[in-house]
Amino acid sequence: LWTMHSYIDQAVEAIRNQVGNEKVILGLSGGVDSSVAAALLHKAIGNQLTCIFVNNGLLRGREAKTVQEVFGRHFKIKLQYEDASNLFLKRLKGVTDPERKRKIIGKTFIEVFEAATKRAGKAKFLAQGTLYPDIIESVPIAGNPAAMIKSHHNVGGLPKKMRFQLVEPLKSLFKDEVRELGLELGLPREIVLRQPFPGPGLAVRILGEVTPRRCEILREADTIVVEEMKTSGWYYKIWQSFAVLLPVKSVGVMGDERTYDYTIALRAVESQDGMTADWVKLPYDLLEKLSSRIINEVKGVNRVCFDISSKPPATIEWE
Ligand code: XMP
Repeated sequence: LWTMHSYIDQAVEAIRNQVGNEKVILGLSGGVDSSVAAALLHKAIGNQLTCIFVNNGLLRGREAKTVQEVFGRHFKIKLQYEDASNLFLKRLKGVTDPERKRKIIGKTFIEVFEAATKRAGKAKFLAQGTLYPDIIESVPIAGNPAAMIKSHHNVGGLPKKMRFQLVEPLKSLFKDEVRELGLELGLPREIVLRQPFPGPGLAVRILGEVTPRRCEILREADTIVVEEMKTSGWYYKIWQSFAVLLPVKSVGVMGDERTYDYTIALRAVESQDGMTADWVKLPYDLLEKLSSRIINEVKGVNRVCFDISSKPPATIEWE
């Protein structure tokens, strides 16, 4: 840890030199990178930092609460919470095409974020949790179609007309260094060691139309997956594990009743960087626990499947 310890002093000084007495805005997602950036910036410039957290209605269960608890209450970071869930869900109504979903979410995010920065007061700087690999990977590689399959790149996501200067205090670091730094800065393990979660959130794990009801079903299943993966110790060993809601209903039986309900697919993958991935051979007793808990506890689901596809040719997310 000594490397990160001395890195903090250097980084704090560099941030102070760059921003002086100016205000800085950071879009906080709750993911590892923006969380560590927030903690580091707060250490360097305290109240000159305002974090904006957008609830897009597509977050995991308790996510908004966790972020408010950790950053607002514990770190006492100035946190501007924007609940735009109704707007996002309204715009997603009736949309089933995966790329259109992503575009709508991306565009709405920028709109909401831009309006929020205005309310946050005049800031000269925008901070981002860009890592070293983000910079390298955003350089288009000729003939690499994988780089273009999904419109999900986070680098350069905000419009140029937002006239901010960028502060990117993590841009020389790799992911494992960022995690070390986060722990050193006192962030909880729950945040620092979390698995990646896509920007468009649960929307890309709800196949077909995203409705409030479907969000609720997936959110409940997801909570169970996270819980059981953590309890069994598998959560921290693998790249990602999550539930996907399929728009497929099938016949089942519950007590004396015939049911006609949704199917949940479970996905668990091992990966180094998300570019390729292998499905994880989770033990049968864990799969059994996941399946029986989801079917018994989540109303509207009567069947659970396990995705045994690797990337390529399948992607990690289903959309
Ligand atoms: P795919 O599904 O393309 O995912 O194999 C590779 C990795 O990227 C994550 N992912 C995203 N991350 N915004 C993000 O920040 C996005 O729009 C997005 N889409 C996919 C995915 O979870 C996996 O780790």
